[in-house]
This record gives sequence, structure tokens and C-alpha cells, in this order.
Amino acid sequence: MMDKIQIAIDGPASAGKSTVAKLVAKQMNYVYCDTGAMYRAVTWAALQKGIALDDDVALGQLLEKITISFQAAKPEQKVFVDQSEVTKEIRMPEVTNNVSLVAAQPSVRAYLTTKQQEIAQAGGIVMDGRDIGTTVLPNAQVKIFLVASVKQRALRRYKENQQKGINTPLDVLEDEIAKRDYKDSHREVSPLVKAKDAILLDTTSLTIEQVVEEITKIIKNKIEIM
Ligand code: DC
Repeated sequence: MMDKIQIAIDGPASAGKSTVAKLVAKQMNYVYCDTGAMYRAVTWAALQKGIALDDDVALGQLLEKITISFQAAKPEQKVFVDQSEVTKEIRMPEVTNNVSLVAAQPSVRAYLTTKQQEIAQAGGIVMDGRDIGTTVLPNAQVKIFLVASVKQRALRRYKENQQKGINTPLDVLEDEIAKRDYKDSHREVSPLVKAKDAILLDTTSLTIEQVVEEITKIIKNKIEIM
């Protein structure tokens, strides 16, 4: 029987990575790991403790003291920092608007990269983020790079937010997404870039179902030739 493989899904903010990755994991009966949630959890903890978000050393020390964990739950996985559940908190604007700065710190990236590699070690994993195919799992058997226009991504985030009772105007979201793209693509450590061997998938005019179908097809083809 074929071993369970590693699937890396990268791309900019709101390209649909987590929605798609969750569904692909479900179809394949794989574990889903949201690495963005880990960067968000660190940001939440740093804000709580009043640590400067660009203080690489202090953030590194913070990470030695806290434990970030996931717990399977319906309708969505729960995220914890130590004993505190932060599933909702890590999606609030204060975290969203500060996470790029924290994610640019080398100590944070080194720590979380190691943790993510441990999680993925046994295979049977769909991991989404920005640097999974380039840095975290360079040997992943399937790498997907999802993109979509800024307008389309802002619209998706707007609809998601409305369901959660967050009322940020659409043009503000567009601006935030464009800024976050810039920061994520221009940071020094592990910037957001497509891995050479990743498959580019533009989801601007595709439905979620179509994207999932396309990725599942890619995975099945890959497993067949292994
Ligand atoms: O996917 P997201 O919006 O939840 O990610 C939150 C932030 O974390 C995003 O601004 C980029 C950063 N991130 C990262 O640098 N590397 C990852 N593997 C995942 C997320």
C-alpha cells in the first residue's frame, strides 16, 4: 500500500487555502494543519504579555514558555495557547494586522518550522501556509500554490467576516490584504514565494468545489506514479 504523503498548500492571504486544505484533508482522510493559526497564536500571546512584536529575542523566549496546540472539534479545529482557547481571538483584526511583523522574526520562524516538521513527519498531512513547499516540507510529494486577485480575496474575507459579526468595510480589507501580501513577500526569512516544483492554481474564477477537485486529481495522479 502507498504510504501517506505530505501535501503543501501555500499562497497569499485569503486565497482560499484553509477552506480548500481542510476539504482535501477530509477527502484523503489526512490530518489538516493550519500553520497561519500558529503564527497568529504567537501574536496573540505576545500582545497579551505586552511583548514588542519585533523583539526577536523576547519572542523566542516566549515560545520556550508557551505551548500552542490544536484540538479536533466540529465545526472547526480549536486552537489553544497553554490552557486558553484562542480559536476566535486569533482571527480578530488586532491579531490579523500584527501577525506579519511577528512572522518576520527569525526566532519565531525557526521555532514554528521545527514544530511543523514534527507534525508532518509521519505523512498523511495537508499543511497550509506561506513557506510550506519552500522551507517547512521541501520534499512534500505534492505542492500547490494558490493565488487569486486582491479584489476577489477581499470579497471572500468580507463574507467570512460578516458571518463572524466582524464589519470591516470592503475597501479597508482590500488595502489590508495588499499590505499583508507585500510584507509576506518581502520579508527576509522565508518570504512567500512559489516553490519551483509547486503547481500554480489561480482560483479567482473557480468555486471551492472546483479547486478541491483539481487538487484531489493532482494528488491521485501523483500517488499512482509513485
Ligand atoms: O494564513 P493566515 O492569514 O492565517 O496567516 C497569518 C499570517 O502568518 C500571515 O500574515 C503570514 C504568516 N504566515 C507565515 O508567515 N508562514 C506560514 N507558514 C503561515 C502564515
